[in-house]
Amino acid sequence: MFLCFDQSSNGGEKCNFFNWDRLGFSLIPTDYMYTMSCSIDQKFTFSQGKLIPYGNIQLSPCSGILNYGQGLLEGLKAYKGEDNHIRLFRLAENALRMQTGAERMFMPSPSVGQFIDAVKQTALANKRWIPPVGKGSLYIRPLLMGTGPTLGLGPAPECTFLIYASPVGNYSMGPLHFLVEDNAYRAIPGGTGGIKAITNYSPVYKAILQAKAKGFSDVLFLDAVTRKTIEEASGCNIFIVKGNVISTPAVNGSVLPGITRKSIIEIALDIGYQMEERSILLEELLDADEAFCTGTAMVVNPVGSVTYHEKRINYKTGADTVSQKLLANLTGIQTGCIEDKKGWTMKI
Ligand code: COI
Repeated sequence: MFLCFDQSSNGGEKCNFFNWDRLGFSLIPTDYMYTMSCSIDQKFTFSQGKLIPYGNIQLSPCSGILNYGQGLLEGLKAYKGEDNHIRLFRLAENALRMQTGAERMFMPSPSVGQFIDAVKQTALANKRWIPPVGKGSLYIRPLLMGTGPTLGLGPAPECTFLIYASPVGNYSMGPLHFLVEDNAYRAIPGGTGGIKAITNYSPVYKAILQAKAKGFSDVLFLDAVTRKTIEEASGCNIFIVKGNVISTPAVNGSVLPGITRKSIIEIALDIGYQMEERSILLEELLDADEAFCTGTAMVVNPVGSVTYHEKRINYKTGADTVSQKLLANLTGIQTGCIEDKKGWTMKI
């Protein structure tokens, strides 16, 4: 166990003996979480939330989230910069995405203002857990859940908005090696692939674990109708590069509108690439110069190879790649090393 910190001296402001060099992407419990509930009796309007010590929550065994998966998740990060400011990235986008998801999952959602305020409070209350510059970030996980009891199918009579946080390092240790999955599908037209429904994630575990058992790092899903176009990996968006053109699957209802995806599209255009959001045939991926994935957890991660039916294609990775250029620009803005001319960051 490498957790060893001193809370005694200054109210827990310092995390003196924590080994920031060993951060990966797994939970390190922090000090506080934020919670705010509303119920049918309050006409499903969120009002006052509060910070409470991080810990387990009580839940009705009959809650909507446990029984029928009525829930959404979000993910965003707080970074410490060289200037010692803490920055949050495009959090209004997370708030809006949660609202879209809440409408689809028939839940009330916090207003953008409530969401931003709650995220700020959570980040500041756990600020001793924000890693030093270059060591990682504080991953902030907002959840919206049907917490009231619902035995028959129907929306829960009480919903809870909860945010917890954990310091994290890299999600992936190096380039991703994908196996193209053509037996299982992540999303279907009219389904929930385009929102961050909690139930989008565990159904991909079996495919991931089967791929990992064969030495791959993740799976890449095809569209469920034609089975010919690429859609998304298990938890991140995908981009391909051919010459000066960068392409990514269009947001069509089954592809998640990633906030990192959206930011990378804008940065790529700013630095002179041609950008296409469209349907992408698997053959185009197999013929690309380079491929990379984006996501809050993943940031921008190169794809090292893609394997489809025993055919393996290796891609260019390393320093002199498009993905590294985009990564440097994005993280530069997120950490305050590059001037944020877009108003994407919020200093707290
Ligand atoms: C994120 O990138 O924030 C996600 O929610 C994806 C998850 C697989 C970690």
